[in-house]
Amino acid sequence: MSQLIAPFDVHDPQFYLLECAAHGAPWSRAAFTGCEGKLYRTRALWVDGEVVGFTICHLVAGELTLMNIAVHPQAQGKGYGAILLKDLIDFASHGPVPPENNAIAYPIFLEVREHNHSALALYRKFGFKDIGRRPHYYPPIPPAQDKETAIVMRKS
Ligand SMILES: CC(C)(COP(=O)(O)OP(=O)(O)OC[C@H]1O[C@@H](n2cnc3c(N)ncnc32)[C@H](O)[C@@H]1OP(=O)(O)O)[C@@H](O)C(=O)NCCC(=O)NCCS
Repeated sequence: MSQLIAPFDVHDPQFYLLECAAHGAPWSRAAFTGCEGKLYRTRALWVDGEVVGFTICHLVAGELTLMNIAVHPQAQGKGYGAILLKDLIDFASHGPVPPENNAIAYPIFLEVREHNHSALALYRKFGFKDIGRRPHYYPPIPPAQDKETAIVMRKS
């Protein structure tokens, strides 16, 4: 089995299709394709030549924000989300100046729906800690009608 992690083009339609397949309430296409430029870090994971998932991060003022992580529903539960998150943590570990201890150079922030148990478990497995809540932050995922609380997490 061959695996490759590399940058991807947010305008390549296969990635927005993956976004729509993976998320109950996907980003708009404009929001997705807006994640381009030097402040964004995009990475996709190809397995045997097929795209199985991606991450999109924003790096500004020495802080990384994981904006999006998605694994195609048919490829979930096989360790690919963990591979993508580890790739980001490895990147955060280096930063402009290598840290003296095992601390990571760039703190990583993210927000996640409070009922997204698989994503919460993934982040906690990799040492992310809850640092706050944003009530009524996310639009509802149909058929739910209420906005959903965001859990804010950080790894540093
Ligand atoms: C969240 C997501 C990226 C995880 O990717 P994945 O490839 O399925 O995850 P992995 O197989 O690498 O699992 C890694 C860890 O995540 C957690 N996890 C993954 N799926 C889980 C599930 N269904 N239930 C509970 N924990 C789960 C576990 O801690 C797991 O470690 P373990 O296998 O040792 O128990 C994927 O489910 C996804 O794309 N979901 C839809 C999009 C989304 O919600 N993104 C997050 C937005 S904040």
